[in-house]
Amino acid sequence: MLTAIIGGTGLNELPGFVAGETREVETPWGAPSSKLRFGQIGRHKVVFLARHSDGHTTPPHAINYRANIQALKDASVNRIIAVNAVGGIRRDYPPAGVGLPHQLIDYTSNREHSYSADASMPLQHIDFTEPFDASLRQQLLRAAAKADVKIAKDGTLAVTNGPRLETAAEILKFERDGCDLVGMTTMPEAALARERAIPYASLAVSVNWAAGKGSGDIHAEIEKSVANGMSKVMKIISELLNH
Ligand code: HPA
Repeated sequence: MLTAIIGGTGLNELPGFVAGETREVETPWGAPSSKLRFGQIGRHKVVFLARHSDGHTTPPHAINYRANIQALKDASVNRIIAVNAVGGIRRDYPPAGVGLPHQLIDYTSNREHSYSADASMPLQHIDFTEPFDASLRQQLLRAAAKADVKIAKDGTLAVTNGPRLETAAEILKFERDGCDLVGMTTMPEAALARERAIPYASLAVSVNWAAGKGSGDIHAEIEKSVANGMSKVMKIISELLNH
């Protein structure tokens, strides 16, 4: 069992992480965002991919999502835990809160979003009714409970192009659409993982109230809550992999 973790800074400092090989890979879709960092936590083999590149230089709309997922497929990963920073719309997604979305609405455009890119490639109409893997979500929920980390058990995630944050009216529209949180990186990542048949779930870290939902300065809020939120995610992943 090889578990991939796509995400953020600091995650490869997970407690108990024993670093192994680092691989620089290429795919037919180009190079992934970062090197693949293999290692072990407890009895589990893991591989880390930095979605925004090392040094956090690639913006959400410019990420080569196809290369990222293909690189993990080529590495024979069995499941992907994606860590995504989001803005909270629903009350139980406050800054530094963690949640496990169960649905999403894709508002992105102009991203390379499928491996069925042209007539020369097999055409796949994946079933995306449930965009996240039910079993992996349950395992993450159990790990959160054991780690004593409060977690929002569900949520519909709006995925936007970015890199700008939303207007207050856009957030109200997303809310009317039924969205509870908003981020920029889950699509097309989740759909590509489904196309490559890799179970995928997202641990969403709220780093701010979405536009118009909070009273303070959004950037100050992000700065204040990101480390706290990420440390909760690390506890959950650590619990999942160390046992
Ligand atoms: N909107 C979209 N994406 C985000 C946000 C937000 O408020 N915060 C972190 N990622």
